[in-house]
Amino acid sequence: SAILLLNGPNLGILGEREPDVYGTDTLADIAAAVGDELAERGWKVHSVQHDSEGDLVRAVHEHRANTVGAIVNPGALMIAGWSLRDALAAYPRPWIEVHLSNVWARERFRHESVMAPLASGVVVGLGSFGYRLAARALMHLNPAGP
Ligand code: DQA
Repeated sequence: SAILLLNGPNLGILGEREPDVYGTDTLADIAAAVGDELAERGWKVHSVQHDSEGDLVRAVHEHRANTVGAIVNPGALMIAGWSLRDALAAYPRPWIEVHLSNVWARERFRHESVMAPLASGVVVGLGSFGYRLAARALMHLNPAGP
């Protein structure tokens, strides 16, 4: 089995991007950490990052049938990414929304997510550790495995 680790715009440069806000871990570090957590189930990680919404939509479609769950950081698409929201509505497995920063401690425009109401849960403000927590949550939500 495998999970989809989906990261949206500007998350490909994690590590260099506003490190005081987003930390110094790269996306590769995060994918490795998620893989670490999932190893106990033997689950693999399909790590996908795109800056444009259409590519993210296509990635959700492509992984609909071959993943048992997803971890999604939509970046700024949280605010108005309606087509990504609709793609996730058609995703048949549990998925967790993650934000590295505590979006509610920041500008008002970051306070709402159009997709969070569809998520099984949301992890916010815990930096890259939040992705590990999301990985554990997916295993918890898929008790039967593998
Ligand atoms: C983010 C928060 C968003 O507001 C921002 O646009 C991002 C990153 C986070 O992980 O904290 O790109 O999703």
